Amino acid sequence: MLKMVYVMTDFKPVTLEINGRQETIAASPNMTLLEALRELNHFEVKCGCEKGDCGACAVLIDGEAVDSCLMFAHSAVGKPVTTLDGLTGNGDDQHPLKKAFVEKGAIQCGYCIPGMVIAAQSMLNKNPNPTRQEMREGLGGNLCRCTGYNKIFDAIEAAAAELDAGGRD
Ligand code: FES
Ligand code: FES
Repeated sequence: MLKMVYVMTDFKPVTLEINGRQETIAASPNMTLLEALRELNHFEVKCGCEKGDCGACAVLIDGEAVDSCLMFAHSAVGKPVTTLDGLTGNGDDQHPLKKAFVEKGAIQCGYCIPGMVIAAQSMLNKNPNPTRQEMREGLGGNLCRCTGYNKIFDAIEAAAAELDAGGRD
């Protein structure tokens, strides 16, 4: 396979807004947002396939889930990025989705979960009360090899009810 070779001068500082903080990295022109995030120690963003197939690397940009492996780091400049760690609850409370995933036993090996929670938040941003079928469609780009998805759907349903009741704006 032909690989591009970059010299050090091709690396340019790229400043990203990640979970409300400015972080700078020296990035080659083809560094993906996923690579940048993990270089910056955001290991909560997982790397599964690097092809847009698994959803493990999903982050929120403008409230919408984006596969960070499919986006160049420099393309994310000026676009606030939210990872799983940036999803917080009110005050000391955990974010309703994170809490529900734990309470409903929706986590097994956990590898898919950061992307799954991000995709769930993205879906709830558009549709606060999705049906099971809408959840299947909304999470169609996120693969889980462990749970069989039903507990994930249970968790999203519980979180949606809490968010609906004012658990988070
Ligand atoms: S690592 Fe990005 S979609 Fe699989
Ligand atoms: S919990 Fe293991 S891949 Fe989803």
